[in-house]
Amino acid sequence: MNQSPLKDKFGRVHDYLRISLIERCNLRCTYCMPEEGIVLRDKSEFMRPEEIIEMAKTFVSLGVTKIRLTGGEPLFRKGADLVIRELGKLPVELTMTTNGVLIERYIDILKSAGIKSINISLDSLSRDRFEQITRRDQFDRVIENIALLKKGGFEVKVNVVLMKGVNDDEIIDLIEWGEREDLSIRFIEFMPFDGNQWNSEKKVTEHEILDIVNVHYPDKNLQQLPIGKNATARKYQIEGKRQHFGIISTISNPFCDSCNRIRLTADGKIKNCLFSQSETDLLTTMRKGGDITEQIVDTIIGKRRSRGGYDAFDDATVEKMENRSMVTIGG
Ligand code: 5AD
Ligand code: SF4
Repeated sequence: MNQSPLKDKFGRVHDYLRISLIERCNLRCTYCMPEEGIVLRDKSEFMRPEEIIEMAKTFVSLGVTKIRLTGGEPLFRKGADLVIRELGKLPVELTMTTNGVLIERYIDILKSAGIKSINISLDSLSRDRFEQITRRDQFDRVIENIALLKKGGFEVKVNVVLMKGVNDDEIIDLIEWGEREDLSIRFIEFMPFDGNQWNSEKKVTEHEILDIVNVHYPDKNLQQLPIGKNATARKYQIEGKRQHFGIISTISNPFCDSCNRIRLTADGKIKNCLFSQSETDLLTTMRKGGDITEQIVDTIIGKRRSRGGYDAFDDATVEKMENRSMVTIGG
């Protein structure tokens, strides 16, 4: 086998696997979960813990060095503890993106699996607004669990999906909170997925965020930090602060050239891009005793240069887009 089996036509080496453990979630974020919910399917359609572990091992043998567990909400999945423990034994950097609601039950397991850094999704510092966005009253728990993670020595990054007229007035408050609590804040541009009522006017661009920061700190230099090798976030440092903040602007300023990500959905399909229309069903192959390696390699080779082949994200294009809802992809 060649040196980097997961290299695509554009020379991008795919060494980062994001595994969705479950399509369901204990929150109902408006930008992620369609209001009517998602169709619940039979348990047998989803990977069992042993299957997830076997898949992960295959990917590691193909050069994957980093695995992120996502969802829905990964900790809402029965058997998450087993998966975390077993994946912790693989030679990978293991991380997780979670809404933070169930952290207190899992913190010891996360630690013993060698997880060092956790991404928490939190879009507001107001309890009421949190409830409007997530349709659930769990703000206090999330804040307590962030503190618990920090106390436990984890690095914590906070993902904030910015939506115009919803939480874009909290940019400075969030940056200041991150500074006080030693958290790195990442502002994510609102992206279109099935059932999330995206339109181009709701997104807040990188440019707009930087303008707000510059106006608020007129005397402070705002510097862009060097871009990491496969980074999705562009990082900015406000003079005099110990924490930087990041901006993930998939729509207005994408970072596809350096993409190294593969996504495995909870039902055992891989997507070579968040916006890919096609999926490759590994689980069925695995259950038939087939070899998934070739399918994985072919899927990576078929990857489009940028955003699943969508060049523009205007309202008309998005209207016609076909994709899963975010809760079923896992970010
Ligand atoms: N646009 C941008 N980010 C989103 N996420 C979920 N849905 C969207 C969306 N429509 C984020 C979550 C989570 C990460 C996995 O993806 O906030 O932090
Ligand atoms: Fe759940 Fe995360 Fe989606 Fe919110 S964004 S509904 S917390 S999976």
